[in-house]
Amino acid sequence: MNFENYQRATNYIKSKIGDISPKLAIVLGSGLGVLADEFEDLITIKYKDIPDFPVSTVSGHAGELLIGTISGVPIIAMNGRFHYYEGYNLDEVTFPIRVFRLLGITNLLLTNASGGINLDFQAGDFMVINDQLSFFAESALRGKNLDEFGTRFPSMSQIYDIDFSGKLFDIINKYTNRAQTGVYAYMKGPSYETPAEIKALRILGADAVGMSTVPEAITAKHCGMRVVGVSCITNMASGISSSLSIESSELSHEEVKETADKVKYTFKNIVKDYIQLFKVL
Ligand code: HPA
Repeated sequence: MNFENYQRATNYIKSKIGDISPKLAIVLGSGLGVLADEFEDLITIKYKDIPDFPVSTVSGHAGELLIGTISGVPIIAMNGRFHYYEGYNLDEVTFPIRVFRLLGITNLLLTNASGGINLDFQAGDFMVINDQLSFFAESALRGKNLDEFGTRFPSMSQIYDIDFSGKLFDIINKYTNRAQTGVYAYMKGPSYETPAEIKALRILGADAVGMSTVPEAITAKHCGMRVVGVSCITNMASGISSSLSIESSELSHEEVKETADKVKYTFKNIVKDYIQLFKVL
């Protein structure tokens, strides 16, 4: 991708949203599409209509941008994200993040579903991401650096914004007594991990595992955004027996979707409360 590709997409979106300037961009993970119901003066833009924007393919994921206000705060949200396992290149996976930046947005909330590795976790918990692991995956910043966005060798010593992450943690605590914080390990998917991989990830310091978020977080940090990430723990990771599914220890997408579905209204309320933080900014 060239800088012009990002500009073209940005200009198209600007032509559709007029003088709305979103204060926060949100990437909606599995199940969180219900946030769409909360928008006032909603404008939807289909990914397929945006120049150079990739198009979503995975079942259960929509493919549109939502723009409008929630609790009076102008918001832009991705309803459906791009995953590496779908076959996209990483510059496609992270394309929307840079477009958000060119729209003038400096705050990003990444949400996802993940498998719990930390033995103190259980399905239905929410984990505020405080750091990430992606040793075995290529970087979203590989290739020619686009200096317009950031430097060649950006620091990743603090990807997730401490201040906003702390506030999100407090909000989760208000709605559940299962607020967690921890390290998110990125795996490329689409197969779930093996028990040996999960054991290794635990030894390496991971608390949860998933197939998204990390490329977007690195890209956002590179272009100077304040990033916050939250994982809904939809299942315990491979090889960890879940007290909730005694009849089968095989992980399935159905189990992930079932938990995401169960907690989606709580998740929505948490995000709605988080949005309020941007009212005064
Ligand atoms: N592994 C990887 N990705 C996931 C999982 C998991 O256990 N659960 C939800 N997304």
